[in-house]
Amino acid sequence: MRTSSYLRRRDQLTTYFDQTAAAAWAALTSNEPVNRIRATVRAGRDEMRATLMSWLPEDLNGKTLLDAGCGTGALAVDAARRGAHVIAIDVAANLVEVARKRAADEHLQGRIDFRVGDMLADAPATVDYTVAMDSLIHYDEVDVRRVVADLADRSGEGVLFTAAPWTPALGLMHFVGRLIPHQNNRAPAIEPLHIPKLKKALNEELGIAGWRTGQLARIKSGFYISQAVALNRS
Ligand SMILES: C[S@@+](CC[C@H](N)C(=O)[O-])C[C@H]1O[C@@H](n2cnc3c(N)ncnc32)[C@H](O)[C@@H]1O
Repeated sequence: MRTSSYLRRRDQLTTYFDQTAAAAWAALTSNEPVNRIRATVRAGRDEMRATLMSWLPEDLNGKTLLDAGCGTGALAVDAARRGAHVIAIDVAANLVEVARKRAADEHLQGRIDFRVGDMLADAPATVDYTVAMDSLIHYDEVDVRRVVADLADRSGEGVLFTAAPWTPALGLMHFVGRLIPHQNNRAPAIEPLHIPKLKKALNEELGIAGWRTGQLARIKSGFYISQAVALNRS
């Protein structure tokens, strides 16, 4: 179910990733040189993507995978290299365009259907796997739980997602950020979540539908910190 807070945040993210930060995001996710701080973020994100990919079967031939909030498409390419049919969807049309161009240069065993749209409303009703890497980190806990439940509902075999884990430093930044008046070009706030609480809630809410949280991994590299959570069929 898409709540008004989900839709409001999604629309802010559309403006931010499609316009304000599109060029910076394309550069961060490329092989171009970046400054030292961004290089640590890039390294952390590469490690996170490798971690998520290591939780999927090596052979993805015949499997469908939803890359929910695909950005410039690196994970979609990794999955299609292993044979998956990937549906890669993002609200930011400019990033999807970059992703399309980058994927066109790759030799893929599988294939990628890129779509511009909402990861819930415009995604297929059934897939085998869903991965949402760093695309839910700006939604609050209630919305993350609802989105993950919706993604699980349409995924036959597994859902992998990341959240921003609550740490004293991130909690403080979030608190201070809320005191500062919103400027249009500022990045939408990251919502730090208490991972044990989130895990417990997901097990309670989705256990009845046959899901259990599985692998967990926290990746920290410079300013990048992200927590991966797997939901598996129990
Ligand atoms: C931090 S970026 C991560 C992109 C990509 N997953 C990666 O790891 O490189 C978050 C992406 O999620 C997309 N996004 C956020 N909410 C979305 C939604 N409701 N539906 C589709 N895309 C969404 C944003 O447009 C943005 O491209």
